[in-house]
Amino acid sequence: MFPLDQWYVAGFSWELKDRPVARTLLNRNVVMFRTGEGVAAALEDRCCHKSLPLSCGTVERRGVRCGYHGLLFAPDGACLEVPGQERIPTKAKVKSYVLSEKDSILWIWMPREEGGQPTHEAPDYWVHRDPRYTFKGDVFHYDAPYQLIHDNLLDLSHLGYVHLKTIGGNAAVHMNAELKVEASGDQVRVLRYMPESAPPPTYLDAWPFKGKIDRWQEVEFNVSHLNIWTGGADAGTEDMRDPQRGGFHMRGFHAITPETDTTAHYMWTMASNSHPERPDVSGVVFDQTALTFEEDKVVIEAQYRNILRHPGAPQVDIHVDVGPNRARRVIERLARA
Ligand code: FES
Ligand SMILES: [Fe+2]
Repeated sequence: MFPLDQWYVAGFSWELKDRPVARTLLNRNVVMFRTGEGVAAALEDRCCHKSLPLSCGTVERRGVRCGYHGLLFAPDGACLEVPGQERIPTKAKVKSYVLSEKDSILWIWMPREEGGQPTHEAPDYWVHRDPRYTFKGDVFHYDAPYQLIHDNLLDLSHLGYVHLKTIGGNAAVHMNAELKVEASGDQVRVLRYMPESAPPPTYLDAWPFKGKIDRWQEVEFNVSHLNIWTGGADAGTEDMRDPQRGGFHMRGFHAITPETDTTAHYMWTMASNSHPERPDVSGVVFDQTALTFEEDKVVIEAQYRNILRHPGAPQVDIHVDVGPNRARRVIERLARA
């Protein structure tokens, strides 16, 4: 059971080139493509003639052409052409999804009822348009259910154990950080502040810090995606709780879209600012972020394999689980609705 009547991330703009892209989202087989006229579209990945996946076909100026007998379908799923036959059968139509392309993100509306239309606009992600930041992203596949990734992102205390090579730092500082959890509506925020801490390797590569730093981690959970704003400034120079703070910023966009009940897509971007003395660090920040997320994938997939090996075995909560548990309650409430 997944929350429905929600915008989920289906992919990124740069993925739609000259071929259709197949992706299973919430157990539904979807094909995405961009027509030669530039329209991004999402349809059920099944031709209404003999059921070949449309992702085996080709993209044309007006739509996607099936790779078996050549039926051509428009972005709204209507059949535009049956080669060799003048009349288009009235039932020749493929199920379509509402796709909204904004800020390089492809948002798909997952309706509760078939054909259900969006009740609100797709989320805005202004960071991708902000000239202070440079961003790059990727799509990871997880052999683990999506909520294990939520748990991981809402509890950054794991940095000191999992990510020592990049964004980690002292484990005791992470585990003892001041922690605040706020919830309103379908949103959960986890705020962590670590004054006077040692900058981790990625921070040192990206920014000429003078010594100890004041470090912040602000995680905003939304049903389909998390925005995580982390960073640091030379200790004592900025108010680390002020959103106008200076220093080094990493703004992560983390879309977690269930693929099936037991697998997930993790679609992320990392945006960072650069110091005038180090103008070209965004590539380094991206590479180290990718490495960091690969470390998470190893941990989470191993965790899930072990959960399967010990079905029903109880788990004990500790102080860092407040944020993840709040988010689980939001998902449970919406999935039941
Ligand atoms: S299966 Fe698609 S055209 Fe025949
Ligand atoms: Fe992590």
